[in-house]
Formats: sequence, structure tokens, C-alpha cells
Amino acid sequence: MAQHNTASANPAKAWEKRGWRAYPRIQMPDYPDTGALNAVETQLAKYPPLVFAGEARRLKQSLAQVGEGRAFLLQGGDCAESFSEFSADNIRDTFKVMLQMAVVLTWGAQLPVVKVGRMAGQFAKPRSAPTEVVGGQELPSYRGDIINGFDFTPEARIPDPQRMLAAYTQAAASLNLLRAFSTGGYADIHRVQSWISDFTGGEEAARYRDIADRIGDAMAFMAAAGVTSDTAHELGQVDFYTSHEALLLEYEEALARIDSTTGLPVAGSGHMLWIGDRTRQPDGAHVEFCRGVQNPIGLKCGPSTTAEDLKVLMAKLNPENEPGRLTLIARFGAGKVGDHLPRLVQTVQAEGANVVWSCDPMHGNVIKSSTGYKTRAFDSILREVREFFDVHRAEGTIPGGVHFEMTGKDVTECTGGVRAVTDEDLSDRYHTACDPRLNASQSLELAFLVAEELRDRRIDGARQAKAS
Ligand code: PEP
Ligand code: CO
Repeated sequence: MAQHNTASANPAKAWEKRGWRAYPRIQMPDYPDTGALNAVETQLAKYPPLVFAGEARRLKQSLAQVGEGRAFLLQGGDCAESFSEFSADNIRDTFKVMLQMAVVLTWGAQLPVVKVGRMAGQFAKPRSAPTEVVGGQELPSYRGDIINGFDFTPEARIPDPQRMLAAYTQAAASLNLLRAFSTGGYADIHRVQSWISDFTGGEEAARYRDIADRIGDAMAFMAAAGVTSDTAHELGQVDFYTSHEALLLEYEEALARIDSTTGLPVAGSGHMLWIGDRTRQPDGAHVEFCRGVQNPIGLKCGPSTTAEDLKVLMAKLNPENEPGRLTLIARFGAGKVGDHLPRLVQTVQAEGANVVWSCDPMHGNVIKSSTGYKTRAFDSILREVREFFDVHRAEGTIPGGVHFEMTGKDVTECTGGVRAVTDEDLSDRYHTACDPRLNASQSLELAFLVAEELRDRRIDGARQAKAS
């Protein structure tokens, strides 16, 4: 408690990038060879940051708009990026489906959509158990490619610091491609709109065709009025940001830098970092690291998040109550949002705290399928999003965004959707290194359904405002 008081009395002064080392750490590996670890840390500390402070600041401003209901947040990507699935096509396909989702959500919300990938750094995973048993053999759990290997062998499961360098290289190459896709013509809204129409061209997607047609009409109207990507550069390119869970603090510390403009520390590993549901202890190492960097910070809120914890965490992570700094990512599970979210929303309101509320309908909805695979049902995911919107409507607060585990590939990891994936299909293309992801079709379909919700609520809200 004494530590907490000193820290929050003068946070900027008390924080150091190594400071987290004095706090209890969980979910992090014990590297057997400290010499090798130190050598990697020294090397990484010399490398250029992957993102720049000005970009993180710009994202924070965009998130401030989300907090005020003037923009909507779409965050998505792999549960765990992996070394073996790394390819230009995979990056392109996830980026492509996120752009389509963003256009559909823009239509629904009639707001700009802030796009944040779980990409270019989402390598480290918290696990529910330190070991796993397969066929009678017990080995340390896989913790993400930045820490150890997925293969079920004793050698693969030894934490290897060299993996941090491989992760850095992969993240740098991913970001390079994402930056090129964002501004080099690939993300032109006309192109994105044609992809959406292709999806709704299929028989099974008839109910989404109407939305796709309306988006096409709006663009044809704008073009007739002289607004095209040649005249309005916003239509020809996008801002795309990266994010990951700040779990492996040796990596985060090594990439932390001082922003030359403000003189303040900033994480150079990604634009936005979040703190997971398992590592959000108010006096733990992860909160200690994140409180000192200027980037936008996400905080997962699960069923065990108490109002008291949230108060302390908000004070630590956003002592100046800066808009856009803190995104609370609710992940309770379908059927449970009403039990937990209201008390947290009320706490935020009572504190007068500026936050963005986002909904992660993935992590509270993992089930074991009849065929033994870890999966999530499309309907539970949608249901949790709807419950999230309902609570915000009842509390008069702003449902700012959504957070999905998804890929642009045609995998079979989550069940349901119009191109229905069944329990029996899961074995066909189950590729995830960790949690099951929505495939391209399921992701876009979810965007259509969320867009319909956003539109209906917008219309209802306008009616009520007119009537009163
Ligand atoms: C995740 O986002 O991959 C994750 C592990 O989430 P949570 O911390 O909410 O369980
Ligand atoms: Co996950």
C-alpha cells in the first residue's frame, strides 16, 4: 500500500522502465540462462522502436473521440501471432477483412471507425495452467512464440530469449507491410466497397445485401458530387494502428523509449498496449510498467473485476484523467454482462473518469465442442455484444467499440455464421496457436450485425431526442 501511495503521489517521477522488476510478476517465464537474456535485452534496447510516439499520441486523440461517442473502435486480429503462420498473405487478409468491417461499421454508426490490429506484436500469452498434460506426459505450457515453442517436447517448451529478436523482426516486417497497405492505394474505400459486395453476392448472405447496396449508393452519390479518392485523400488511405497484450515485460522494457517531443516515456513495441484479465493486479508488475508509458492502454475487465479494483486501476493508469488514455475492455461471457458491467459502468460514472468502453465478446465465451476442440459459438459472441449495448443504453453511457479474435483466412475455429461451421467441421482448418478465431466470413457477418444494432440505436436515439 505504501508503494502505491508514493507512486500515485508523483507518478511521472517515481516511474522507471525497470521499475516493474520490484513488483510481483505472474504469467512471465523464468529464463534459465540470464546471460543470454541480458544479451538479448541489450540488443533490443539498441534497435529502433517499431512505432513512434507521435503515432501513439494520434491514436490517443482518436480514442478520446471514441470516448465522447464521436468515433467507434474496431480492434481485432489473432489471439496469438505465430512464427509459422507469418506471411504477407495472412497479414493482407486480416487487414482486408478489418477494412471491410470498418466500412460496414462506419455505415451503421455514421461515425469514423478507429482501426487497431492485434498485430505486429501479439505474441505472448497468459495461460490458465503452468503446465499441460498430453498422453500422460506433463510439460510447461506453451506461452506464445515470443517465449517458447508450440511443439509438445521438453526442448520446445524451454523459454528462449532469442525468440524476442525473432518476434521483433516479424513485427517490424508486419508493420512495414501494414504501413504500405494503409497508404499505398490498397485501402481505397472503393476497393473495400467492392470486396463487401463480393461477399454479399453469395446466396447465403442475402440479408446483408441491402446494407452493401446502401453503402454502394452512398459512394455513387459522393462520386457524382465530385468526392472521390482523387479529391478527398481520406477515401484513398486509412490510419491503422497496432496493439498487443503487454505481457512479456523484458521485451516491453527493452523497446520503451523517451519521446523526444514531450520528454516522456513511450512503449515502442506497438501503438496501444493492454493489460490482460490475469495480470491486472493493482500492485503487480504489469500495471506498474503500463502506468508509466504514454501510449493508450487497454484494461481487460472480467467477472472478477471489483469496483474497488477498477477505481484503484483507473487512478494508477490514468491519474490525470486524460481522454483516450484508458480503454476498458469488458469480457464477461454471454448471459453474464448484466451481472457485472453495470457496477463497473456506475463506478466509472461516479468517479467522473474518462474511459472508452469496448466489448471483447471472445474470452468469456470459450467452450469445448462435442468434437473436443476449443471453440466459440457465433451466436454467443453476438449475444454478448448485444448485452453490452443494452447495459450502456440503460446506464446512458457510450458503447465505444468491439474487440475480436479474428483472421482473414477461411479457418474453422468458431462455430456458426451464415456459412455455418459445425462442430464436425472444426477439424478441417483449425490453425490457431491459441484461442479460436472468427474466420473472414464470420468477422464480416458480425460487422453487419453490429452495424444493424448501431443503426437501430442511432435511429431510436434520434426519435427520442425529437420526442422530448
Ligand atoms: C487475449 O486477449 O488474448 C486474452 C488472453 O484475453 P483476457 O486477458 O481477457 O483473457
Ligand atoms: Co485469446
